[in-house]
Amino acid sequence: STLSPFEIQEIDQTVLMWLDELQKATMAAMNQHLDVATKHDARDLVTNVDKSNEQTINKYIRKFDPDAQIVSEEGFGDKPISMAGHVWFVDPIDGTMNFYKQHDDFAIMIALYIDNQPILGWIMDVVNNIVYHGGPQMGVFANQLRLYPPENDALNQGIVLLSGARLLYGMFGYDEIAKSALGYRVIGAAGPSFIRVLRGQAVGYSSKMMSWDFAAGQVLAKTLGLIVSDIDGKQLDMLSSNIVLVATNRAHRDILALHRS
Ligand code: IPD
Ligand code: CA
Ligand code: CA
Ligand code: CA
Repeated sequence: STLSPFEIQEIDQTVLMWLDELQKATMAAMNQHLDVATKHDARDLVTNVDKSNEQTINKYIRKFDPDAQIVSEEGFGDKPISMAGHVWFVDPIDGTMNFYKQHDDFAIMIALYIDNQPILGWIMDVVNNIVYHGGPQMGVFANQLRLYPPENDALNQGIVLLSGARLLYGMFGYDEIAKSALGYRVIGAAGPSFIRVLRGQAVGYSSKMMSWDFAAGQVLAKTLGLIVSDIDGKQLDMLSSNIVLVATNRAHRDILALHRS
């Protein structure tokens, strides 16, 4: 079930059209009144835009690829029990708190996997109107511009991005990782954190995530030669949550060693 270069281009161009429409709708909605509700706890937010974006994207996917399964955050997807065939991952607003309070550093993310292989990923930086998109068969682009593999910097040569909640409580060795890095930041959203690693602005990023949080980032990062694994160095499980680590080769090695010690 390998796709031809023509089919890859066709899928990419189709999703880029959807994202262009969603970018405009999301920017317009951000400046209107947002309906905000909490889910599991006070910091776990969902807005009307998360829901409407997901409904729109899933409707488009079902029309375009009717036999595919969809894994999405807000309940309009499926619950696949295997990664066989086409599986799409949808995060309709990644970084909902940033969207609601900061009006920056949030994203719309979509990814396509076939038989558990990463095929294509899209991370739409909505405020800057830049889509990071591509995959192993076409390379990675920021809109039209091709991206090249970032410098292979070590942890002590660059900035590491970490999940704030886990850093605060010293989980997963995040406190030691932050101390060993040149600098550390908490961006508060997975997609914008992946973007910084793709662009070489950060040497690594780690957080506990669901599959819609890392599916697109994993496709793009691996295509650029970055290493994506769980915090123990093992392959990510696409059907459950993972403590994800994406980093340059050298920073990945440094972080695994700190996590183990
Ligand atoms: C969340 C953000 C956050 C990460 C959480 C995610 P959401 O995504 O990416 O940075 O730490 O694990 O759930 O819920 O805003 O799409
Ligand atoms: Ca959420
Ligand atoms: Ca997310
Ligand atoms: Ca989300």
